[in-house]
Amino acid sequence: MDILRELFDEYYHLIRPSVFKKTALHPQKAHDDFLLFCKFIHQTRLSSHLLNHSNNCSSLGISNAAGFNKNGEFPLEVMKDLGFTRAVVGTVTYDPWIGNPQPNIRRYPLTESMVNWMGLPGIGAKKIAEKLIAQQRCLRCSSVPITINLMSTPQKQGEEVLHDLKGTISARRHIPGVDRFELNISCPNTHAVSGKVDARKENLKQLGEMLSVVEEQVFEEQKILLKVSPDSTEKDVLDITTIAHQYKIAGFVTTNTTTHHRREFIPISPQNNGQQVGGASGNAVYQDSLRVQRLFAQQKKRNKEWIIIASGGINSLEKLKERFSEGASELQLFTPFIFSGPQLLRRFHRYFMSRDQ
Ligand SMILES: Cc1cc2nc3c(=O)[nH]c(=O)nc-3n(C[C@H](O)[C@H](O)[C@H](O)COP(=O)(O)O)c2cc1C
Repeated sequence: MDILRELFDEYYHLIRPSVFKKTALHPQKAHDDFLLFCKFIHQTRLSSHLLNHSNNCSSLGISNAAGFNKNGEFPLEVMKDLGFTRAVVGTVTYDPWIGNPQPNIRRYPLTESMVNWMGLPGIGAKKIAEKLIAQQRCLRCSSVPITINLMSTPQKQGEEVLHDLKGTISARRHIPGVDRFELNISCPNTHAVSGKVDARKENLKQLGEMLSVVEEQVFEEQKILLKVSPDSTEKDVLDITTIAHQYKIAGFVTTNTTTHHRREFIPISPQNNGQQVGGASGNAVYQDSLRVQRLFAQQKKRNKEWIIIASGGINSLEKLKERFSEGASELQLFTPFIFSGPQLLRRFHRYFMSRDQ
């Protein structure tokens, strides 16, 4: 069966350039086609033969990063076959939200980077809950655990934000397999009350109130994580960890995308009305992400139990090892998965299996 997987890897690399070319102006289309393909191989029971067989999974904690499975549309069994040991769903907002006009993603294949300014589109918490419950009912074998990444519906403010978070969690906490909630306080693509793009500053101001609501809503055994920005300053990290210390926070996902578009990775930034837009990921975020991960790792002196989940441009074993040596114990992938396909996860699992023996 390894031959089938190797053929699939070859195929992924062979068709990737033409898919990228065809969908250069609409990268979302490539994602939608990949989803259709995954659903097809799931229905025909081919996914475990073509992808990573679940028996290959090592002790490595590896999930998709949010945005890849926004509405819980990927069958959980396929997520497992792709090599993920956990599925992140979201960002889930309470109300359905249309997001920014498409196209709102740009790929930079030469530097294995992307910029997106999607603005948290989604079908809303209730519909996503129905989808996940339906999936859980028809699962053929044990599934992967689920993290819900959440934030309030864009443009809500004050009490409405808290009401949204409460509603999202209460619709989701009973779903079997949901054992983590990840609060996304780091999306650079949503509008603040002032109307300017980027609500991250406002999220920080309201963090204590938000955590109080989240903590009140989740069940005792469910963990709460904070997904943070690679653009955080040392002061931001101090402020966040001071507040997090007052709540039952299990740890941090370091990090989301960056508005710092390094020219060596993003030679031409997407623009809207003459203004640079979007958050950069993949190689373009790696350095900022690592810097912020280090700052959070230093703050583990406040609470040794905090875990760090590395996210941002982890596209090689060297980078995986670097992130783990700097305090991470799990990882999340999005952009590197787009450019490398499932073989990247297989490579990571193989390394961990040989390390575990
Ligand atoms: C197209 C796209 C959509 C994303 N949407 C979300 C999202 O809805 N919520 C979120 O927390 N992060 C989102 N992210 C950020 C990723 O989850 C991840 O943290 C970031 O891209 C860095 O990791 P990577 O280099 O592995 O992609 C998105 C990223 C991309 C590229």
